[in-house]
Amino acid sequence: MINESQLKALHSFTNLLIEWFEKNGRDLPWRKTRDPYHILVSEIMLQQTNVEIVIPIYGEFLKQFPGIDDLARASLHQVRRITDKIGYTRRGKFLLEIAKEISKNRNGQFPSSLDELLDLKGIGRYTAGAILSFAFEINDKSAAIVDVNVERVISRVFGFWRDERNSKFDKKMWIFAEEFIMGGDVWKKNQAIMDLGATLCVSVKPRCYICPMNILCTYYEQIVPKITPLDSFFD
Ligand code: ADE
Repeated sequence: MINESQLKALHSFTNLLIEWFEKNGRDLPWRKTRDPYHILVSEIMLQQTNVEIVIPIYGEFLKQFPGIDDLARASLHQVRRITDKIGYTRRGKFLLEIAKEISKNRNGQFPSSLDELLDLKGIGRYTAGAILSFAFEINDKSAAIVDVNVERVISRVFGFWRDERNSKFDKKMWIFAEEFIMGGDVWKKNQAIMDLGATLCVSVKPRCYICPMNILCTYYEQIVPKITPLDSFFD
């Protein structure tokens, strides 16, 4: 599913990406912690919302419920009073249910395997991978993540952006995402690809001209010569 030349390009891409991230990575509050509960809160909050909106609510939430046992003792009303500020009312319900399950039925022991995490209501494959890579830094395929940003970056770099979005496409994205984290440094690699998708490789008017990975990017090779540098800078 992934051929030799793609593998080579993926390794070069990864090296350049890490170099870029070390200089340009965003300083976000959930990057200062490896506490799985804090990572869970950030990831549930970041679903369908952007970083700027989440930052103050994440801080407020953890001030009110500093540990998973504090959250497990709260009422849904107390939780939603904070989480509803960023919309999508199921967020609060999921967070409370997960906290109760971990605090009461698992003695506060946060699950650290893919299967156990997927057992929790409200945690899908993406969120499980995010917890495994950002909290536990698990160095294997279970820590792979594919969200809209990762999908956009991979599909542009490797020339799949025009492909129909179907289950075969999804499978391909996961194979690339798994290969991408092979060899360690999962925390940094996954944070880096997310930042690239959120800051340079954005969906409208990507900033290809200042992207250090453009030298090996299929999208840049095929699309960018048709637009001017000014299009990408003045957005
Ligand atoms: N979106 C989801 N998880 C994120 C993270 N860890 N950093 C930035 N944006 C995100």
